[in-house]
Amino acid sequence: MAITAEIRVGADKLDLPVIVGSEGEVGIDIGTLRDKTGAITLDPGYGNTGAGESAITFLDGELGILRYRGYPIEQLAGSASFLEVSWLLLKGELPTAAELANLIAAERANRAVPDHVQAVLAACPQNTHPMAMLASCIVTLSSSHSDEDDAIAGLPANQLRLMAQLPVIAAYIYRRSQGLPLVPPDSERDYAANFLHMMFAGTGKQSDDVAIANAMDLLFILHADHEQNCSTSTVRLVGSSQADYFASVAAGVCALWGPLHGGANQAVVEMLDEIVHRGGKVDWVVAQAKDKASGFRLMGFGHRVYKNFDPRAKLIKVQADVVLDKLGKDDEQLDLAIGLEHAALADEYFVQRKLYPNVDFYSGIIYRAMGFPQEMFTVLFAIGRLPGWTAHWNEHNAGKARIGRPRQIYTGRNARDFVPLQAR
Ligand code: CMC
Repeated sequence: MAITAEIRVGADKLDLPVIVGSEGEVGIDIGTLRDKTGAITLDPGYGNTGAGESAITFLDGELGILRYRGYPIEQLAGSASFLEVSWLLLKGELPTAAELANLIAAERANRAVPDHVQAVLAACPQNTHPMAMLASCIVTLSSSHSDEDDAIAGLPANQLRLMAQLPVIAAYIYRRSQGLPLVPPDSERDYAANFLHMMFAGTGKQSDDVAIANAMDLLFILHADHEQNCSTSTVRLVGSSQADYFASVAAGVCALWGPLHGGANQAVVEMLDEIVHRGGKVDWVVAQAKDKASGFRLMGFGHRVYKNFDPRAKLIKVQADVVLDKLGKDDEQLDLAIGLEHAALADEYFVQRKLYPNVDFYSGIIYRAMGFPQEMFTVLFAIGRLPGWTAHWNEHNAGKARIGRPRQIYTGRNARDFVPLQAR
């Protein structure tokens, strides 16, 4: 039976069209609401608002399901490479062997960043956060890569180049911050392996291990898309004004930076450090997180959509064991995180609100074991999320997108006469 929806606003009754997605999700199309009734909807935080239709990623927060273009994240994480997944997100289908070979070759051939990126980095004070530097570098790339219509290996040239250059820029940011000489990209190494090499060569940290590079690649896959999250919505919104691709992605980087979004991976490790500092007991953190007056939240816990285990968190937890094992590290933070997870999941406050560990809860522990300083964690998230942002930017701009422009209910002063300065 067809689903119908009607709304009454005062004396007005309006029948509204209902859109049903391919997984049975129901959306009420309120496009005529204001014209017909004068009213708008109010949904702070957009918890009930669909920004549009999308064919990229499906997630079911109640069941803990995440699929890119229909493929379960567990299968992609177990079998595909990050570049393969990037192609899938961007093109809608898995690449053929020839398409993937072309993509790999093109990515390797386009890693050189324009000279001015070095100047941008040099102009930043030493203590600038890496996410600020990343956003600055990306937005200035619009001046070097303006050939919007060209294609490389079947992808828009701008987008292929940014994918190839983002890890290079990230490695430059890190090495400059440490006063280390820059390491040029190595076209013999694949995406994640080259990134680790550029980051850590000559530092005594693990830069060449295949298992660690595979773990990095897997982490990029797990972060590659997550439908209409805060940063992706930002990318779509900025793109809706017809701002260029680089400006839109740079805006996404800024949105990702916040501790309630991608910045949570840094915040989790800082929180775990604080617990260690205070003697290693988790009870006070759980108590503080439950106390609304404290303003504190258990970082890496809870999600707008997942009301069950975040499937990415499950996969990352397994990876944490693999990486720590490989690096021969006995990580006090991992034990602490497991203890904290158990304490929270047994607590009525978290159970009632369906708050589970999210993608950021265990990722920082792996990144730290790999040798990344915590300020770089969210940069790693950004590298992983780039294909998702790009796929959404393309989808939004290819469709019948209108500029994103929410309305509001005004609650300020009514009209009043200007008071001259001398009379105030
Ligand atoms: N610790 C303590 N209480 C929490 C937490 C938490 N981490 N998360 C949610 N709550 C409580 C919240 O106080 C509210 O309680 P009440 O109903 O009594 O008012 C209830 O749970 C519902 O929370 P909400 O604020 O309505 O949830 P939201 O959907 O607006 O926020 C969130 C989602 C992810 C921002 C939030 O859970 C949070 O702040 N988590 C910590 C930060 C974090 O880990 N962020 C990473 C998110 S996943 C990756 C990503 O998006 O980048």
